[in-house]
Amino acid sequence: MRIISGTARGTRLAPVPRGVRPTSDRVRESVFNSLGQFFGGDALDLYAGTGALGVEALSRGCHRAVFVEKDRRALAVIRENLRRARLADRAEVVASDVGRALDRLLTDGRQFSLIFADPPYKIAASEVGAVLSWLGALLVPGGRVVIESGEAPAGGWVGTKGVTRRYGGTYVTILERSEITMIVAVCPGSFDPVTAGHLDIIRRASKIFDHVVVAVGANLRKKPRLPAVERARLLEKVTAGIENVSVELMDGLLVNFAREQGARVIVKGLRAVSDFESEFEQAQLNRTMYPELETVFIMASAEHSFLSSSAVREIAALGGEVRGLVPEGILETVREIYSSPDGNI
Ligand code: PNS
Repeated sequence: MRIISGTARGTRLAPVPRGVRPTSDRVRESVFNSLGQFFGGDALDLYAGTGALGVEALSRGCHRAVFVEKDRRALAVIRENLRRARLADRAEVVASDVGRALDRLLTDGRQFSLIFADPPYKIAASEVGAVLSWLGALLVPGGRVVIESGEAPAGGWVGTKGVTRRYGGTYVTILERSEITMIVAVCPGSFDPVTAGHLDIIRRASKIFDHVVVAVGANLRKKPRLPAVERARLLEKVTAGIENVSVELMDGLLVNFAREQGARVIVKGLRAVSDFESEFEQAQLNRTMYPELETVFIMASAEHSFLSSSAVREIAALGGEVRGLVPEGILETVREIYSSPDGNI
């Protein structure tokens, strides 16, 4: 492996320690071609491994580079590569895990024009998703983040556009600052079925946040009348016209789902006083599990204050009129499905 271009062009890099997956020359060349002539500013190389990306950035004109790595053998290789390229005086090598290093860099008010995140394959894409919003805060306007991964960035970076290219088994995503700083909110519920009140909250949330992921989940205290896929299908139908809303099925804990989606906010509707206690409890527990995730409540409109999915199920099951209680587009389906007797509502 060699440095491809710039002042250290041709420098042969030190042998790669076992267990470290270096960015191949081919991938590195393609990444830098995609970045174009954009150098200057500082670079941050997270999960630096051999440091090949950060050294290449220094060679091509970045002023300074910070390398973050916790593996001792890899740290020695980074230092050796900087020595070989004669770039050690413009580099800072930080022996730390990424979370702690980012915390420090944010506290110190550091800014970078280029951030590389090339986590080992054993680190889940969700971990990168979780730190992505922090990376946005570390980028100068116009700066970019390059994420390398062994899997396609499905779900994990929802709401962030970016360009992903595949090189054999490696996926490289380049994100601009504006694509990272966008705020994704998760709007969770059982939606059995989605009501006019739910849709009102989703619509209002979509005007506040850049992207809203409606999460169709399981409330273990309730036995759903319809399978989750069917509930999601109804939601997709009624939200189809709202551009920045998507619908996903959620298994397991809401906090884990939010992390995977790169969401910073849980948004929920709050109706009359009776909702408060249970919502307060859930918000506190979620906050204990994931302190960076904020729960935000939108007050239900007056006409929906006493509307609930359970009321819709009961009215439909007893042959009552559900018009006005559920979105118009799914009225017939709700009448059909929820009016058929199955012993529970
Ligand atoms: O519409 P609901 O029934 O009030 O929705 C409740 C839901 C699905 C949002 C809640 O039960 C939930 O978050 N479930 C996911 C599992 C989880 O994270 N439980 C811990 C919450 S404190």
